[in-house]
Amino acid sequence: MPKGKVAVITGASRGIGKSIAFALAAQGAKIVAVDLDSEATDDVVKELLAKGTSAVAVVGNVTLTEDVEKMIEIATGTFGRVDILVNNAGITRDGLIMRMKDEDWDAVMNVNLKGSFVCTRAAFKVMSKQRYGRIINIASVVGQMGNAGQANYCASKAGLIGLTKSNAREMAKRNITVNAVAPGFISTAMTDAMPEKAREELASQIPLGRLGSVEDIANAVVFLSSESSGYITGHVLSVNGGMYM
Ligand code: NAI
Repeated sequence: MPKGKVAVITGASRGIGKSIAFALAAQGAKIVAVDLDSEATDDVVKELLAKGTSAVAVVGNVTLTEDVEKMIEIATGTFGRVDILVNNAGITRDGLIMRMKDEDWDAVMNVNLKGSFVCTRAAFKVMSKQRYGRIINIASVVGQMGNAGQANYCASKAGLIGLTKSNAREMAKRNITVNAVAPGFISTAMTDAMPEKAREELASQIPLGRLGSVEDIANAVVFLSSESSGYITGHVLSVNGGMYM
């Protein structure tokens, strides 16, 4: 387990990213929480510090190289190394393809795909010198199966799977593993707001009969961050209750 390891998590101020931060902290990792939302990120870090975890907040945009380099500098300056990078920051700008605006396509590609590239490139420099690293990209079931009304999002997540596999091949010699976690439908503020009937219908399409929890995703990330997963690289771990196999 990642005791004493340093984990950089993007999009860590809420939802899945926040849950990953707490799960890795529970395993003894030191946390670098990165997000655009400074107030919420500060709150996450305060909570982590109160639990006795070493943690630091970084306000930054994963699409901007200067912000990401600052993020890695803060991580190494504070904790001396970067062992784990979780590329979790992601957005949606849903719409049917006929009506999808260029800016909706670009925004989603930028955050979900380019952001992961920029963060990985920056972390690789440090991990490469350490001869150790664990990179986990948060993809999506819809990047594997497609979804009407989400062409930009599905393409970005499918692209992220390609990025995962290429990076896995490129970085293996340096003892760096690169894997993706592909969540199914996860119970978050968004799905909680759905009408009960719509939620039930969604759950009925899932063999395990329920939406996933943020902890289901965090548990998979903990495993792929750990020593126990050292011989797994370039893998896409589906955490979707069986909705896509
Ligand atoms: P969320 O919207 O609750 O949290 C995303 C976080 O990323 C926010 O705190 C936001 O401020 C941050 N963020 C957005 N753009 C950023 C940028 N440019 N730079 C830095 N931070 C930025 O999302 P949620 O639901 O927790 O999802 C997390 C990841 O899991 C995303 O990559 C999402 O695509 C993926 N996912 C989520 C599923 C779900 O059902 N919630 C299902 C499958 C995948």
